[in-house]
Amino acid sequence: MRRRWITAAAIGLAGMLALAACGGGGDSSGDGGQGGAARKRVEVFSWWTGPGEADGLKAMRQIFERQNPNYTFFDAAVAGGSGDQARALLASKLQANQPPDTFQGHAGAELQGYIKAGKLEPLDFLYDELKLREVFPEQLVEQITVDDHIYSVPVNIHRSNVLWYNPGVLKEAGVSGPPKTIEEFIGALEKVKQTGKIPLSIGSQWTQVHLLESVLLGTLGTERYNALWTASADWSSSDITKALENFKTIMSYAGTPQEDWQPAAKQVADGEAAFNVMGDWVYGYFVNPPDGGLGKTAKQDFDWAPAPGTDGTFMWLSDSFTLPKGAPNRDGAIAWLKVAASKEGQDAFNPLKGSIPARKDADKSLYKDYLAYSLEQWASNRLAGSIQHGVVANDAWRSAINDAVGLFLQDQDVAKLQQALVDAAKNSGQ
Ligand code: GAL
Repeated sequence: MRRRWITAAAIGLAGMLALAACGGGGDSSGDGGQGGAARKRVEVFSWWTGPGEADGLKAMRQIFERQNPNYTFFDAAVAGGSGDQARALLASKLQANQPPDTFQGHAGAELQGYIKAGKLEPLDFLYDELKLREVFPEQLVEQITVDDHIYSVPVNIHRSNVLWYNPGVLKEAGVSGPPKTIEEFIGALEKVKQTGKIPLSIGSQWTQVHLLESVLLGTLGTERYNALWTASADWSSSDITKALENFKTIMSYAGTPQEDWQPAAKQVADGEAAFNVMGDWVYGYFVNPPDGGLGKTAKQDFDWAPAPGTDGTFMWLSDSFTLPKGAPNRDGAIAWLKVAASKEGQDAFNPLKGSIPARKDADKSLYKDYLAYSLEQWASNRLAGSIQHGVVANDAWRSAINDAVGLFLQDQDVAKLQQALVDAAKNSGQ
């Protein structure tokens, strides 16, 4: 499984570099040098190559291919959870005016960065044609709107603040249920440690930033967390110090960092680890049948709860497809956006992706166990935006936070981390 995934990464990156090489000046055909026969291909850029992620994309691709026999879907996905590699490559392609036909970006500050930089076409015409203004939640449309124009098509809602756990490992450690507060969490981690199992599984660096956002929310509470992204934010306050100390303590129970989120989550499903804090793409990975997923059974092999201290708040993010200015195959990209916007497309994609649809009129019967819970939580919870997945911080700010966490993992210096976060907020330009 891992080999297949790494190969996909290598092919994805090589494919992108080849494209970058041939898409430059001197080509007057307007097809990015793709040549006549391949002219109708539609390059769709994402980072959904890994187990769990690729299944949803494939389902949407099949609908696209069925509805558009004149176009070829070209999967330009670049491996790496959370777009770790993809987002940097995308930025350089957009900078060089060599966009893919469409790319996946996060609703919120991340996409607003691209919009303000003039990299995206407004999609008001599509919203008018398909009457999309009524089908997406208002607060979501706000996140993809700048100066009254709408710039992307949200395909889903993911939740970031989920605690995945192995019920058997908890039982063995004498932990009666998922911890509700950060203090209870630390107590439970300690109990698991005594059994010799991994208390908390963790992946590459971005997964640790992902953990940090849940610890910030769980320590500060929703109101103070949301205030961090407003002009009056105070990153030097003592409650942030407390959150960072909590982060340090929780991280001291982490196992060996795994290559990405899938192998870290797998340690929980396999009963090697007790807990993992990760977005609900984990659900798709756990339950999808092999070879895409692990074929596990909810509530038996794994269970879930809100990340400690965050019950009642849905820390959200949304994957959203765009129309970059200068897309080599603009019509093909619009055909893709129509599938991504459709009820059929969203209901095929989301049950496999582990997300709930962005559309309000989806077929609820398709969303079972965790996903039924998520639909209910999305409708009733307060909202907070994810840091790592582009909602509250633009890309420059997010990467500064990532750098700060990277240094902290080496020196464990909470005061230095806090100062770096103060600086990151000051320099974000947001
Ligand atoms: C997020 C993305 C999700 C999922 C996750 C892990 O940034 O929005 O769809 O792909 O990364 O790769």
